Amino acid sequence: MKIGVIGYGNMGSMIVNNILKLNLLLDDEELIVSNRHLNKFESLIEEYPEENLSITSDNKEVATQCQKILISVKTPQFKEIIEEIKPFLNESTHIIYTCSGLNFNHIKQYFDGKLSLVIPTLASTVTSNNSISSLARRKGVTLVKHNSKVELQERLFVEDLFNEFSYVRRIDNPIYFNEEENNLDPSDNELEISTIISSCGPAFIAMMIKKFTQTCSESSNISQDEIEDMILKTVIGTAMLKDDQGLSNEDIINKVATKGGITQEGVDLLDKKFNKISKALIKTLLSRYDEVNDEMNKTYLKK
Ligand SMILES: NC(=O)c1ccc[n+]([C@@H]2O[C@H](COP(=O)([O-])OP(=O)(O)OC[C@H]3O[C@@H](n4cnc5c(N)ncnc54)[C@H](OP(=O)(O)O)[C@@H]3O)[C@@H](O)[C@H]2O)c1
Repeated sequence: MKIGVIGYGNMGSMIVNNILKLNLLLDDEELIVSNRHLNKFESLIEEYPEENLSITSDNKEVATQCQKILISVKTPQFKEIIEEIKPFLNESTHIIYTCSGLNFNHIKQYFDGKLSLVIPTLASTVTSNNSISSLARRKGVTLVKHNSKVELQERLFVEDLFNEFSYVRRIDNPIYFNEEENNLDPSDNELEISTIISSCGPAFIAMMIKKFTQTCSESSNISQDEIEDMILKTVIGTAMLKDDQGLSNEDIINKVATKGGITQEGVDLLDKKFNKISKALIKTLLSRYDEVNDEMNKTYLKK
């Protein structure tokens, strides 16, 4: 079976490299990866000269040869791709796409077949020291949503693949979800909020580490690198207290902050100020989602 990937950017390359690093292709499986500029593939070809990988800049080649096609281009670029490959798709084609903000209804006029939305995360990047067991090496959360045409085996193909290196969270129960009836509560922001946490999250966490590093560095003679290293080790250690030992946030706060002590002052300050910033963040992002949805409606649902 040939599996196609169109778009070798941040997400496409992460997924392709994870598949190859973890040796996830079966003997009879082959990857065909296409990208607009071929120079992006230089290190991939050097690292994986095997026969079960081919690269191209011709998306039609992917569409004619593959039944499973993962499209991972920027959301506005999706339309030109689907228009380009549409003549080569048939009812057994399964399109798996990573484009945030693009829903099944948008795509339906161009391709009315099997569709899965997958929202991956940079946090799932596989590194050389990854563990052999998929449970131990999973990092980050991948969101997955299928339309009703996707059959059990096809759903499992997608979910099992991403479960190899991340925790898969299915957004709707695909068995009961009927996108034709559009029976989702419009105030249900499960996909958007989950995307903000799992896929935007690494950028927000990196931003918080950056800002905290800057402030600590301005208030001391310690180098930025040493500060960032200390913060990182503290973040990982704290996450493990929760993950390995099951401590709650309250447990951790109570164990670290003694009443009247220095930590408690900081905890109180964060308690007062952080609500405001996280509410503003979520509000801004949800309204950006609405704007993107309007833009997509204009682009895709033209009469
Ligand atoms: N980045 C994230 O953390 C993240 C997380 C979850 C979901 N997403 C979603 O995933 C999608 C991809 O994001 P990304 O960050 O991977 O974007 P990206 O880095 O910009 O990658 C897009 C890739 O698509 C290629 N491309 C564009 N037009 C093409 C065409 N006509 N034919 C073949 N290849 C084409 C580009 O090639 P060239 O560079 O050669 O032009 C580029 O390599 C977006 O819709 C985003 O919303 C991203």
